[in-house]
Amino acid sequence: MAQVIGQAIDRIDGRAKVTGAAAYAADNRAERMAFGSIVTATIACGHVTSIDANAARRMPGVLLVMTHGNAPKQAPFQAKADDRHARPKPQLASDKVEYFGQPVALVVAETAETARAAASAIVVTYEKAEGAFVLESASGAAYNPGKGPTGAPSDSKLGDFDKAFADASVKIDAIYKTPYQAHAMMEPHASLASWQDGKLTVTSSLQLVESAHKSIADTLKLEPDKVEVISEYVGGGFGGKLPVFGDAILAALAARELNRPVRVALTRQQMFHVTTHRPASIQRVRLGAERDGTLSAIAHQSLAQSARADEFAEPIVFSTRSLYAAPNRMTSQRIAALDLPVADSMRAPGEAIGLLAVEQAMDELAVRLDMDPLELRLRNEPKEDPEKKVPFSTRALVPCLQEGARRFGWDKRQARPGQVRDGNWLLGMGVAAAIRGNFLREAEARVTMESERHAVVEMDMTDIGTGSYTVFAQIAAELLDLPVENIKVKLGHSSYPDTPGSGGSFGASSCGAALHDACTKLKAKLAKGEGAQGLSVTGSVKPGDDYKRYSQYAYGAHFAEVGIEQTTGEVRLRRMLGVFAAGRILNPKTAHSQLIGGMIWGLGSALHEDAVLDPRLGAFVTQDLVHYHVPVHADVPQVEAVLLDEFDAHANVLGSKGVGELGICGAGAAVANAVYNACGARVRDYPITLDKVL
Ligand code: MOS
Repeated sequence: MAQVIGQAIDRIDGRAKVTGAAAYAADNRAERMAFGSIVTATIACGHVTSIDANAARRMPGVLLVMTHGNAPKQAPFQAKADDRHARPKPQLASDKVEYFGQPVALVVAETAETARAAASAIVVTYEKAEGAFVLESASGAAYNPGKGPTGAPSDSKLGDFDKAFADASVKIDAIYKTPYQAHAMMEPHASLASWQDGKLTVTSSLQLVESAHKSIADTLKLEPDKVEVISEYVGGGFGGKLPVFGDAILAALAARELNRPVRVALTRQQMFHVTTHRPASIQRVRLGAERDGTLSAIAHQSLAQSARADEFAEPIVFSTRSLYAAPNRMTSQRIAALDLPVADSMRAPGEAIGLLAVEQAMDELAVRLDMDPLELRLRNEPKEDPEKKVPFSTRALVPCLQEGARRFGWDKRQARPGQVRDGNWLLGMGVAAAIRGNFLREAEARVTMESERHAVVEMDMTDIGTGSYTVFAQIAAELLDLPVENIKVKLGHSSYPDTPGSGGSFGASSCGAALHDACTKLKAKLAKGEGAQGLSVTGSVKPGDDYKRYSQYAYGAHFAEVGIEQTTGEVRLRRMLGVFAAGRILNPKTAHSQLIGGMIWGLGSALHEDAVLDPRLGAFVTQDLVHYHVPVHADVPQVEAVLLDEFDAHANVLGSKGVGELGICGAGAAVANAVYNACGARVRDYPITLDKVL
């Protein structure tokens, strides 16, 4: 059997994507297709008192104006459903406005231009209510959500933190702040809906097809078999396409009303309010250590925004429970309900911003101890999970740190800031650990022999740019002993077998394990002499006990070198290296792309990203990629990711762990620590803009 899993093969969908042959949601066309444009609220809180659509209705080509006055009745919203991404998402359900940018009307016209012009001609008047918008002044309203999205409790406690911290020889007690962040994926949300013989088909840009299918069917009160959801190509998701939004539901409602296909695409500007964002956070980290660097006490407390309209608890402190050894510890997660758009998962929800605090605090402790920050981490390596008290399935944080140090030239780092110069630039190096929870979800996959030597794989899984199509082709090719090009992978249709979709870095492992099962069963049938052609087998995977008996995370270590212009305070990344261990790597090329993408995002979270809130309006003023800064080519010099060999036998049959979210975890902290090492500025309020460095 030729080894195909683990080969760095090119994406099998790469050519279709770069030649424009791959149709993204807004590229799809249908006969007699009409175009919808959403009108959004310009207040954050209150009621719509009137909507004057007369001018819009008189425009030639306008087909429909839908408001809460004439929108079809839909299923009610469920604030506290178990699966937040599969809930009904009723649109235009009442006159109530719960956040700035909430859809208040839809205009459908013969052309997209007419729809947009007519939407802007609609006059909405409101009765405004008082809202709370500022996290810093909301601490009195903070509450305990009880648990995080994965079900882990909000609080944890071990030993006596207060006493141990009071007794510690060396301490850090610091507050870190992270701003609102937007997913800002390349492809804005869009949906095309059409009805035929009472059956609805929605082609959209989604991460979770099965959840979207349930969400759309339930919202419109349709039987599941009366809805088909399709999402074949997705131009990035990052968590921002986990739920369905107004584009999908409004397109479906309007298409039924008009009896013709309707496409609704969000504008880039609308995405900042109509969809979700990463909440801002305020975090307190306390570390207590002996003089030799041994941690005796760790506390991590977080407060994050949640929308009043829809609770979401960013799981900021959870990985701190596993990261370093210390006998006395406490973590707590609090949220504050604000009258802002809905917060939800964004790449590595929790770790991405939790580590910006914890891994900077570790650096601060190392400075106070006069110890190498890498050495401090080595000294606090736990032998088992420090809070769950179970073994790690695998844990390669130390090898990642050591291999990274060797490759990066960490021994050349000067311990004190301000020592290394390049002309008018001060240079510095920083290190930080990466940790990200690993998950397996229930999944199914079907494999069918089209001929003796050709197979088709079907799953409702998506490829959001991660390489799903490619790694599944590799798995099937290896197990069926066929060339990769003889495997056709079909994803993104709700009629295919159910999967958890792309989210939480669980997609490749969960779906890959189900596919492994399907291929193994198919091979057994072939071995028994069953004819190949037409043979079809469905396989599945369910998370077993190993997820309770072992502490499962992927790990890594980030190294960054920055330069700081002394006169202006400008911070420039010079180079960055990440070394990661994430079980068996299914395809080093697609994994590498995921990891450097995450690292670059970490750079952005350290230096650039900031969805600026106008506290008077309760609205984000950064509503496009001009004002919402993400790293561009000029910001990103040499960034390298190295993968260590690993196989996690407790994770799943493939031995793989998720990599999609690992790259961002800790990356920004390495940059922040490099800034300190360069110039001595300790900036705890992200992003680290030049005004804070000077
Ligand atoms: Mo990920 S933030 O669960 O798409």
